[in-house]
Amino acid sequence: KMDIIEKIKKLKEEKNAVILAHYYVEPKVQEIADYIGDSFYLSKIAVGLQEQTIVFCGVSFMGESAKILNPQKTVLMPDMSADCAMAHMADVETIRKMRDTYEDLAVVCYINSTAELKQHSDVCVTSANAVKIVKALPNKNIFFIPDNNLAHYVAEQVPEKHFVFNKGFCPVHENMCLEEVLKAKEEHPETEVLTHPECPEAICKISDYIGSTSGIIRYAGTSEKKEFIICTESGVRFQLEKENPDKKFYFTKTEPVCRDMKLVTLEKIAHVLETGENEVHVTEKLRIESEKALSKMLELAK
Ligand code: 13P
Ligand code: SF4
Repeated sequence: KMDIIEKIKKLKEEKNAVILAHYYVEPKVQEIADYIGDSFYLSKIAVGLQEQTIVFCGVSFMGESAKILNPQKTVLMPDMSADCAMAHMADVETIRKMRDTYEDLAVVCYINSTAELKQHSDVCVTSANAVKIVKALPNKNIFFIPDNNLAHYVAEQVPEKHFVFNKGFCPVHENMCLEEVLKAKEEHPETEVLTHPECPEAICKISDYIGSTSGIIRYAGTSEKKEFIICTESGVRFQLEKENPDKKFYFTKTEPVCRDMKLVTLEKIAHVLETGENEVHVTEKLRIESEKALSKMLELAK
């Protein structure tokens, strides 16, 4: 184990590379990352890094976004097949139809989406900034893609706007079971329930806090409570326990696991650093056209 970590460190220096990781990847990978965060933090931090090469330990929309924002850099994915199912759950034809149907419409695209969807959207959001950004938009009508659960959460926070919903969802969060959350609450009544807004509305309703993975970690750190039920992908446990050794974290009996995030391993990181394989490419036209929505997010989230 020591060997592979040493190897990655050495390769990182040789190749002038930096490692970014999402909270959902394996703890072993989080341990060797230079930056760990939620989707918003990772897209912000990707801009302005000194290193020439970014190894993105996450799913494809994350590496793609990093490349779109930093075209002069080399972005490498440890596993090219690590993809987010939700990223594909909207379509350009429907976007066009909504633009024809509604006047004064903004197409708001959750960052968990393909570059093609971003290309046809007005602004990107993440779970950390969606409410703020939708509020800041001048438009009355909002077509929110791809996630239906996040859209409903945002709509509730921004009642002055009219939302058009889309049927996308995260399979990991959508399959979380309210009964299991209630059961955990019964077993540990002194807990607060901290939930990602990709969860079904019924789970959000019984939660004490709703927010991004970073938001959940921050909340758990500052809350007076000592025990929490965490309703998001179980990779966040690593940072929660590391930052709060005196607190306890429970998950539902069926632990939510994103198989795609777990495809990232130390061996694959070393391999792409060594070979330069799995480089992210985006055609220049798609890059320029999808960059607008991402840059607008970074601007409006300030
Ligand atoms: P965050 O915005 O918390 O990073 O969530 C990303 C994600 O993929 C949730 O499933
Ligand atoms: Fe996509 Fe869900 Fe995995 Fe997040 S947890 S990357 S939304 S499939």
